[in-house]
Amino acid sequence: MRRMRTAPTHLGTSQNIYDSADFFGEYSKYPRAQNGLEGASEWPLLKALLPKDLTGVAVLDLGCGDGWFSRWALDQGAASVLGLDASKNMLDRARELTTDESRGCIEFRQVDMQNLSLEESAFDLIFSGLALHYPANLDEILQELHRSLRPGGAFVFSVEHPVFTAPRNPGFNRDQLTGRTYWPLNDYFDEGSRSVSWLGARVRKQHHMVETWIGGVLSAGFGLVGLHEWGATDEEARKHPNWPEGVSPRFMIISTRKTFKSTTLSRVATMKRSNLRRAVSWARRGVLLSRRLRMKSAWRSIES
Ligand SMILES: C[S@@+](CC[C@H](N)C(=O)[O-])C[C@H]1O[C@@H](n2cnc3c(N)ncnc32)[C@H](O)[C@@H]1O
Repeated sequence: MRRMRTAPTHLGTSQNIYDSADFFGEYSKYPRAQNGLEGASEWPLLKALLPKDLTGVAVLDLGCGDGWFSRWALDQGAASVLGLDASKNMLDRARELTTDESRGCIEFRQVDMQNLSLEESAFDLIFSGLALHYPANLDEILQELHRSLRPGGAFVFSVEHPVFTAPRNPGFNRDQLTGRTYWPLNDYFDEGSRSVSWLGARVRKQHHMVETWIGGVLSAGFGLVGLHEWGATDEEARKHPNWPEGVSPRFMIISTRKTFKSTTLSRVATMKRSNLRRAVSWARRGVLLSRRLRMKSAWRSIES
């Protein structure tokens, strides 16, 4: 399976916090690390936005972590799965959890997605679970993913919700007057890097507004198919007492497709003005020519 090109290294490496022993130890206690799909609270919403039939498809799992989605995709009939992640710890666990039978069709590779370089039109499905809010060059990555997806292919991903990533000092507050719990939304419009305390470490991630996520996928050329926002239900809140039910969204799930139309439109959108004028004038000439030809054949049929 060869679906990557030599990577450019202009951005250097990212934080790779999952390779810190203490952080990884804490993360390993998380329900999604222990129970895979069943432990991932957003999985039912995510699954609903995935293509229904994965038989024979080539899958990329970007930021695959311990590879639960990669193995699930293979169980659904995918022909091949490439799982990429920056963390050696995560990939070691992914390999441990992957049985011998599936090894031939799954490949896990250590790659920093900030320097992503993939083969053109190599995948039918690109999936990314809670990883795309880490890299600093989102637009570049989205363009590379679009290039590596076949026309008609699906790109489905989950990220931390922009409401969740916005505050610089995140944490639930209590309203003095009503006594209700709320999530502060200051700094929402101030996009960029955040350094937040999580699992005993300072974790670096990126805050993007909703319009930036949507604008990013559209201008990369994807067509939007669906969007879900996950927040803790009563049951989830009982499992995670620090996520008060219904207070704020925690994850955002976006489903897109690479359509021929969106590819063409994004090409038009990025064309230089002079090229665009030329393209429009050629299109007009084409319309006039076909009209003339149709008239000619109409005359011929009247004359005969
Ligand atoms: C919250 S975990 C999610 C893992 C898995 N996709 C899941 O849904 O359970 C985030 C993953 O993204 C990976 N990651 C973060 N930044 C990355 C980068 N720049 N390149 C590749 N992987 C990255 C981490 O190593 C980690 O495995």
